[in-house]
Amino acid sequence: AYVVTENCIRCKYMDCVNVCPVDCFREGENMLVIDPEECIDCGVCDPECPAEAIVPDSDPMADAWTEFNARFSLLWPNITIARTPPGDAAKFDGVKNKLRDHFS
Ligand code: SF4
Ligand code: F3S
Repeated sequence: AYVVTENCIRCKYMDCVNVCPVDCFREGENMLVIDPEECIDCGVCDPECPAEAIVPDSDPMADAWTEFNARFSLLWPNITIARTPPGDAAKFDGVKNKLRDHFS
């Protein structure tokens, strides 16, 4: 499966949602995750993310995010239509330690 990683937090651009053919994104308050049970590994979302937050689970960058996506995809609701991203999304692009400092 593909995996949403740390740089999605507070960027949450949601371009990924519009291209996924199987609607497998799930929405948290500050980021999205991918349901690994539904992702068909098409890879279409990967280049669409302006924050470059989406990687295949085979990528070293996926690391603990594979488990994170699996866990939160069970808790968060489906999102199928992108809305307006947060107004300060660009400010958070590339910020370090987002999980620790900005997840909630
Ligand atoms: Fe959806 Fe394809 Fe991305 Fe998986 S890889 S989340 S199926 S767009
Ligand atoms: Fe997040 Fe990128 Fe989608 S920032 S919401 S994974 S387009």
